[in-house]
Amino acid sequence: MQSNGIIRIAIQKSGRLSEGSVALLQSMGLSFETYQNRLFAPCRNLPIDILFIRDDDIPEYVRDGVADLGIVGSNVLEEQGARVRRMLPLDFGYCALSIAVPERQIWKTVNDLQSKRIATSYPSTLRRFLTERGIQAEIVVLRGCVEIAPTLRVADAICDLVSSGSTLRTNQLRIIETVSKSQAVLIGSEVMSPGKMSILEKLLLRARGVQEARKYKYVMFNAPASSLETIKKLVPGCKSPSVMPLADPAFIAIHSVVLEEEFWDVVEKIRACGGSAILVSPLEKFIR
Ligand code: PRP
Ligand code: ZN
Repeated sequence: MQSNGIIRIAIQKSGRLSEGSVALLQSMGLSFETYQNRLFAPCRNLPIDILFIRDDDIPEYVRDGVADLGIVGSNVLEEQGARVRRMLPLDFGYCALSIAVPERQIWKTVNDLQSKRIATSYPSTLRRFLTERGIQAEIVVLRGCVEIAPTLRVADAICDLVSSGSTLRTNQLRIIETVSKSQAVLIGSEVMSPGKMSILEKLLLRARGVQEARKYKYVMFNAPASSLETIKKLVPGCKSPSVMPLADPAFIAIHSVVLEEEFWDVVEKIRACGGSAILVSPLEKFIR
């Protein structure tokens, strides 16, 4: 436990979440070194230390107060049931805990794995799933390199995280069942001093600002002044769009934000009501 008021944030040292975790912290304005084999990095500009550790150890570190915050997959939380606060889903590190079998096998569903051996690093989650489905299979617990288990004849199937699917392809395995879905989550210790809480609140504001920004695009375009009422409904932004006069009084310039997922639909409607010269840029931060 540390008591000097410095916040410690634990992130995955190397794996699926490492790059996204570093990118998120940097875009939140934390400046620190990330060269390989580093286990610890102090931030240059804030009273924060970054710990680089195995993702499976992160909930425990946060639960015990060794770290105040952590970034970890929700699958690890589900598996360990650790007593930590789930502060914010982070919208990256999407993956699925899946059951996979060798490509050459004819097994199609988990029902075909009755009395078989399944290797995994997530025994509790898998046990629950198998019980729900009424499957009696032997669970072989491995801490890493689960995908090699069928080749080594240590198990008949595996239950592991699949993100891009390249690990499965390399090992000639195919998914037959999805057990649960996961994404990166910001977790926090249940016990925190008021001083740390106030730094934490600022960090959360920053994390949300980065996350919100990713969902939106900034749009600027020209439109006939006569279409203003329609345009206000099309691109309402936070309160209402910014409207600027142009040298030609028949036209106006509009600035607003649009949800990325609605963007192309909105652009078509802008064009339909006479909009032109549509400029679009990404947002870096968006504090509502
Ligand atoms: C997981 C999993 C696979 C890999 C799958 O590892 O164990 O090795 O990701 O990703 P892919 O489908 O993109 O190939 P994780 O990052 O959790 O590291 P760990 O196994 O060391 O905990
Ligand atoms: Zn892991």
